[in-house]
Amino acid sequence: VLRLRVLRTSTFRFALAYIGLFAVSVIAILGFIYWATGAVIDRETHRAIDAEIQDLSQDYRRGGIDRLVAVLVNRSKGTPGQRNLYLLADPNFKPLAGNLSRWPDATPDESGWIDFRIGEQTGDKQRSITARARTFRLEGGLHLLVGRDRTERDSFQGVMEDSLIGSLVIMVILGVGGGLWLSRNMLARLDDVNRTAQEILRGDMNRRIPVGPGGDEFDRLGGNLNAMLDRIQALIGTIRQVTQNIAHDLRSPLTRMRSRLEATLRADQENSPSRETLQDTVVEIDAMIATFNALLGIAQIESGALRDVMTEVDLATLARDAVELYQPLAEERGLTLEGRYEDAAHVVGNRHLLAQAMSNLLDNAIKYAPRGGVIEVAVTREGDKVRLDVADNGPGIPADQRTAVLGRFVRLEASRSAPGAGLGLALVAAVADYHEADLQLSDNAPGLRVMLRLRAAGTGPPPNGVRLPE
Ligand SMILES: Nc1ncnc2c1ncn2[C@@H]1O[C@H](COP(=O)(O)OP(=O)(O)O)[C@@H](O)[C@H]1O
Ligand SMILES: [Mg+2]
Repeated sequence: VLRLRVLRTSTFRFALAYIGLFAVSVIAILGFIYWATGAVIDRETHRAIDAEIQDLSQDYRRGGIDRLVAVLVNRSKGTPGQRNLYLLADPNFKPLAGNLSRWPDATPDESGWIDFRIGEQTGDKQRSITARARTFRLEGGLHLLVGRDRTERDSFQGVMEDSLIGSLVIMVILGVGGGLWLSRNMLARLDDVNRTAQEILRGDMNRRIPVGPGGDEFDRLGGNLNAMLDRIQALIGTIRQVTQNIAHDLRSPLTRMRSRLEATLRADQENSPSRETLQDTVVEIDAMIATFNALLGIAQIESGALRDVMTEVDLATLARDAVELYQPLAEERGLTLEGRYEDAAHVVGNRHLLAQAMSNLLDNAIKYAPRGGVIEVAVTREGDKVRLDVADNGPGIPADQRTAVLGRFVRLEASRSAPGAGLGLALVAAVADYHEADLQLSDNAPGLRVMLRLRAAGTGPPPNGVRLPE
């Protein structure tokens, strides 16, 4: 998996592109040298052959065939392995003099040049030589060939070709290897950043990217991101603090107002005209207090202050109690409320918070399901998990809103007329988070199904790193 990831990095692609460019320039340079040296050697060879032909034709003009043969015999003697080739042949290409054993069968171009390969006996060694030569017809039908052994030139070019291929192979190996190495290093550094980001996304705002002492670009990036995170964390803290302070500070005067109104109501005569206004005001104040309580409750859960209040809780009993509590209200609304509970539904958690979450879900179901609707509460065991379902057949929540409604103060347009502040599901989400439980909203076709899945007691470490009381 790591290998594949390394191959997909941009570093690796850059390394390949770089090596590709480098290879092209090496090919260009070596190719040019290859071509240029070949051209120089060829030009030199041609010049030498032409000069020699000049000499020989002069000999021929001066002394005729005898002189030519004498000169050729003399020149052909040379040292073994010499590079000059001569051959004089009769009109039927039968050799008369020179150091080639037979006339080559290559066809000459229009100025008489031929390239050929021929087996030659040098000393007692048989070797194959490649050669370039110029051929003529002399008066009287004789054929003359003057050439140069090109074996050396060819082997030089062979060496060039080999080194070209060799350097390309080495370059590819180094390029791929170096690219892999670079990408792995890069990935390792970036993985630190990614891992930290994921931990923060999972809710651990205190995570920071490890920053080395080197001060390279990754360290600087890490440092800047960390500074940004510090800043964000401070801002979040301030916002949370302000919310909490407002909720807290307004709750007491509201409670006092409510008591005063109730006292007034008690003292009032039965049929006083202000009585109804006072009663409505009490209801509104109750709603405000409930909102503040919910806000403070969520804040308290998030701060982790309730950690030590976790115990082993039987979710089935909890659900049975909640259903019993809401049964009268459901009947009053013309709704059927059904419960289904399995044994062995113990979890580790905060009894009060779990009960609160359940009543928020039931409250929603009763509030949003239409008359004649059915509400189902089920507690089931699923492997090492205990699952709580609260499902209704009301209007449901569109799929694209199911995450949003978990936010604070989020209410769907259709629900504006119903009482509530949009904090119910936010509290359920906070409780789920706090218990490291799965919370899923889905379509009950029709209606909403809320599923909360907690780890069963005794099947692993308790949630949130809590230690249970002995
Ligand atoms: N059972 C449900 N059926 C349909 N819509 C629901 C249901 N439960 C919640 N909702 C939608 O999600 C929104 C948020 O719910 P909640 O946080 O409990 O706030 P509140 O109940 O105060 O409006 C509700 O306003 C409503 O639009
Ligand atoms: Mg609600």
